[in-house]
Amino acid sequence: MDHIKQKIIEVGLPNAKIVKQLAKEHGDVVTQEVTLGQILTGMKGVVSLLTCTSKLDPVEGIRFRGYSIPELQDLLPKAHEGGQPLPEGVFYLMLTGELPSKEDVSYISEQWATRARGIPSHVFDVINALPKDAHPMIQFNSAILAMSTESKFRKAYLTGMDKKDYWDPTYEGVMDLLSRLPIIAAYIYRRVFHDGKYIDPDPSLDWAGNLAHMMGFEDPVVKDLMRMYMVIHSDHEGGNVSAHTTHLVGSALSNPYYAFSAGMNGLAGPLHGMANQEVMHWINKMKRDIGVEIPTKEQIADYAKQTLANGQVIPGYGHAVLRKTDPRFSVQLEFAEKHAPEAPYIQIARNIYDVVPDILAATGKVKNPWPNVDAISGSLLTTFGIKEFQIYTVLFGVSRALGVLTQLVWDRLYGLPIERPKSQDLAWFKEKAGIK
Ligand SMILES: CC(C)(COP(=O)(O)OP(=O)(O)OC[C@H]1O[C@@H](n2cnc3c(N)ncnc32)[C@H](O)[C@@H]1OP(=O)(O)O)[C@@H](O)C(=O)NCCC(=O)NCCS
Repeated sequence: MDHIKQKIIEVGLPNAKIVKQLAKEHGDVVTQEVTLGQILTGMKGVVSLLTCTSKLDPVEGIRFRGYSIPELQDLLPKAHEGGQPLPEGVFYLMLTGELPSKEDVSYISEQWATRARGIPSHVFDVINALPKDAHPMIQFNSAILAMSTESKFRKAYLTGMDKKDYWDPTYEGVMDLLSRLPIIAAYIYRRVFHDGKYIDPDPSLDWAGNLAHMMGFEDPVVKDLMRMYMVIHSDHEGGNVSAHTTHLVGSALSNPYYAFSAGMNGLAGPLHGMANQEVMHWINKMKRDIGVEIPTKEQIADYAKQTLANGQVIPGYGHAVLRKTDPRFSVQLEFAEKHAPEAPYIQIARNIYDVVPDILAATGKVKNPWPNVDAISGSLLTTFGIKEFQIYTVLFGVSRALGVLTQLVWDRLYGLPIERPKSQDLAWFKEKAGIK
C-alpha cells in the first residue's frame, strides 16, 4: 500500500474514533453563545466546523498544522538550496500532520507526474467548446466538472462499499485531481493568452515548477515564485468560502470533483479569490485615471478616498478574520524586495501599503485595514511576466485545491455527516430582538 495512505490510517483512525466519541458522549457540551449580529454578519467567530489542516489566528495569521509560513520556509524540502518550499511538502504536512522527508516529497511529485497522464480527451473538448474570452475561471471549473467522469469515489460508492472506507477512494480521487490541475490551468492560460501554443509537461519537474514550465516560464525565479504562491494560498482553515463550500457539498457525499468545483465557484467571487484580479483592475484604472505610471502616495490616498466615496471596496485590503498585515502579504513583499525591489508594480504595491491602512481605519467601520494575500500577488506575478491577470484566480484555485481537498479526505475519515444548519424567518429574528 501507498505509504502515505498507511500514514493516514495510522494518524487518522484513532482521531476518527475520538470524533465519534465527542459527538456521542459529549454532544451536549455548550461551546459558545451565538448572537443575532453574528448570524446576520456572515457567522463570523461562530465555531461550527472541524478542520485540522490549518488554523488562522487573527493577529499572527495562518499556521499549517501548527507551523507558520516562515517556519515552513525553514522546515519544508525545497527544489534547490535557498529556494522556496515545495507545495508537495505542505500537502503532506496537511494530510498527515507530520513534516515530510525529501523522499516523501519526491514520492508525491512522482505520483502526481504519473497520475497527470490520465486526463481524458473530452476534458479538453469541453474547454475548447467555450469561447476563448470566457473567463478562465469558467473554463477551469468546466474542466473540473468534466473530469468527474473519472471519479474513483463514485465508482467505489456504486459498488457498495462500507462507509468507514469512503476516505480511501476520496484520497485516490484527490490525488488524481491534484495531479491534473496544473495541466488544466496551463492549458487554459496558453489557449487564451498564447494562441493555443501548448507546452508539454516535463515529468522530471516538481508540481509547481512544471506549472510555470507549461505556462511558458523557464526562469528559475518564476518557478520559485510559483512554488511560493502555491504554498501560501493552499489553505486558510475551514470557514473561508472555498473551503466551506467544498466541505458542504462534499458532506452530501458528492465526489471530490463536484465538491471542489463548487468551492472554486466561490473562489471566483471578487470578495474572495478573485480579489487578486480586482486589485490589478483597481491599480491599472488608477494609473489610467491619473495618467501616470507610478502614482505617488498622495495620488493613491486621494484615489482610495474617492473609491470609498463611490461606495466601493479597496481590493486586497481587509479580512473577515485577520486583524493585522497578512503574513502571506509579507512573505510576497519579502520575495519582491529580494528579486525586484524597483519594479514599478512593486513600488505601487508598497506605496498603497503605506497609505491605505490609515484611510480604511479612518472610516471607523472597517475591522481590518491591513493588506491581505491579494494586495500584492498580482503585482508580483506581473513583475515576473505573468501579466494576464484573469489567470490569477485560476492559479489561486490550483493552490487552494491542496488544502480543501485534504480537508475532504479528513471529513470522510472522520465520517462527518451531511451539514444542515437551521434557518429562521424574519419573524423569528424580530421576536428574539423584542421588535413588535
Ligand atoms: C475581505 C472582506 C470581504 C471582509 O468582509 P467583512 O468581514 O464583512 O469586513 P468588515 O467586517 O471589516 O466590514 C465592515 C465594513 O467595512 C467595509 N470594508 C471592509 N473592507 C473594506 C475595504 N477593503 N474597502 C472598503 N470597505 C471595506 C465593509 O464593506 C463593511 O461595510 P458596510 O458596513 O458598509 O457593509 C472585506 O474586507 C473586503 O471586501 N475586502 C476587499 C476585497 C478583498 O480583498 N477580498 C479578499 C479577502 S482575502
